[in-house]
Amino acid sequence: MCGIVGYVGSGAPGGRPQGVVMSGLARLEYRGYDSAGIAVVTEDTERVAMSKKAGKLVNLEKELAERPLAPGTAAIGHTRWATHGAPTDANAHPHLAAGGRIAIIHNGIIENFAALRAELLDEGVEFLSETDTEVAGHLLAREVDRGLSLADAMRAITRRLEGAFTLLAVDAREPRSVVGARRNSPLVIGLGEGENFLGSDVVAFIEHTRDALELHQDEVVEITPDGVTITDIRGLVVEREPYHVDWDASAAQKGGFATFMEKEIHDQPTAVADTLRGRIDEHGRLQLDGGMIHETILNSIDKIIVVACGTAAYAGLVGRYAIEHWCRIPVEVELAHEFRYRDPVVSVRTLVVAISQSGETMDTIMAVRHAQQQGAPVIAIVNSQGSTIAREADAVLYTRAGPEIAVASTKAFLAQITAVYLLGIYLAELRGNKFPDEIESLLDQLDAIPAKIQRVLDTSEPIRELARTMANERTVLFLGRHVGCPVALEGALKLKELAYIHAEGFAAGELKHGPIALVEEGQPVFIVLPSPRGRESLHSKVISNVQEVRARGARTFVIAEEGDKEAENYAEQVFYVPSAPVLMTPLLSVVPLQLFALELAAAKGYDVDQPRNLAKSVTVE
Ligand code: AGP
Repeated sequence: MCGIVGYVGSGAPGGRPQGVVMSGLARLEYRGYDSAGIAVVTEDTERVAMSKKAGKLVNLEKELAERPLAPGTAAIGHTRWATHGAPTDANAHPHLAAGGRIAIIHNGIIENFAALRAELLDEGVEFLSETDTEVAGHLLAREVDRGLSLADAMRAITRRLEGAFTLLAVDAREPRSVVGARRNSPLVIGLGEGENFLGSDVVAFIEHTRDALELHQDEVVEITPDGVTITDIRGLVVEREPYHVDWDASAAQKGGFATFMEKEIHDQPTAVADTLRGRIDEHGRLQLDGGMIHETILNSIDKIIVVACGTAAYAGLVGRYAIEHWCRIPVEVELAHEFRYRDPVVSVRTLVVAISQSGETMDTIMAVRHAQQQGAPVIAIVNSQGSTIAREADAVLYTRAGPEIAVASTKAFLAQITAVYLLGIYLAELRGNKFPDEIESLLDQLDAIPAKIQRVLDTSEPIRELARTMANERTVLFLGRHVGCPVALEGALKLKELAYIHAEGFAAGELKHGPIALVEEGQPVFIVLPSPRGRESLHSKVISNVQEVRARGARTFVIAEEGDKEAENYAEQVFYVPSAPVLMTPLLSVVPLQLFALELAAAKGYDVDQPRNLAKSVTVE
């Protein structure tokens, strides 16, 4: 997500604050962003110096070369991954308040910003941008105008904000202070000699100091040249032991993980939580991110077609089960590159849902255009703000997985499934298929998923150990049923992409219709076992599949729900995931398969972030 850097030093006003912040932003570029900005506290006590530009850091550097900022004592900088508001100069951070005396930068999503914005508008505040960040800035200014210090003002607004945020702010009248706050979004403190640093991760300041402090949930920090003060949001001082960062800069970019792939697999609880955050309002209505399809149109649709490729298509396959069950609307999932060549039956009553992490997959772009030529409304579920598919669709529901650097998609996949669930819940509420209490129950069940994903990650060593023993395997089969079938497809795709091993995923029920001929002595077969609480005893049918392949010599590895001990009678090894509503289980059962593919590829010495022959976005047909 966004990159954040803060600095304060003891020297006379000079260029170091700007230099430290700009080099920190450069180190954070890998995180992906679409605009950048900096604010410097100079000797002007009424206005901070500020510069910001849409696009890459080089645009800001050019701006600063043409219009340099005055020397300063403190500075904050930001690279923005847009969520609210397009990537423009106006929407770039920092945002100013109090007539330019205060500057603020923000990473995250302030869920109650609309109500707070209305409150400020009623007080006559004028806004220059569409962002939730500017709302926080004016709230801060209002507290400072009431006589509070910047740190007290930050504590006051932190008590009012809802959602996820890392905030940094400076005040022209407090030239030796930078104040920060965090909730559900990272902020770390770098400890220097006569100077101190803040960053969204240690990469921001690792070239200056490796001594750091973590800021915890709902804490506020004030850094000055001589010290760091951490408090809770009521102002109670918190003592915290520093730690020494022994990562190199490259590892720090990956959050201490060896690869972006592993970092992004571990980002999945946050990716799902962020995608859910603030999406359904108090009336049960889905908060789309851009455009709108009128409710009368959505009420009139009689079919949904999902168009996507690869992993994104498998997310659509998972979503199909949920939407058909909740909304009683037929859902087709079509590979985008096949869609328009089959002369599909599409009308104004067909809702087309385009799923794409990059938003630039040409096959999916062309499918969107074909659907719109047929008069169908198109909703895009994309991860990249302002991408082609997001721009051309009639409405957009962004996944908030943050930049996905590794070519093989993981956190975007879980975020896509989450977004499709949200769309299904919204349609079910809109069309009256579900009562408010049922909607609330589904949302509560979804809110519990991130912690369950974390539990899978925390207990992943057994499947990693298994992977390290299988580096010489030449083919692996993956079986699943119902929502487990797309999981099997995705598990096979990950193994193909990362370990270059032939892998095939298919519906477990299909086994006896041919694929069982593939099974021979020692053949590894992964089976995604449905929950024993599922419908029509699918569980016993898939247990039979395990027995069938086991009887023919296969090595059987089962992904099962915690407590489901029956599989242990038939499987070589069982990997457990927490229980969840049947339709939501793919968000958990795919994680062991991602880790299996990652670990096996790493054991083979392959570059898991940039697998051979693959591009992150396939921008040609
Ligand atoms: C997934 O691991 C692959 N990188 C690939 O299948 C990808 O999901 C597909 O190309 C679609 O990309 P998109 O989501 O950016 O449209």
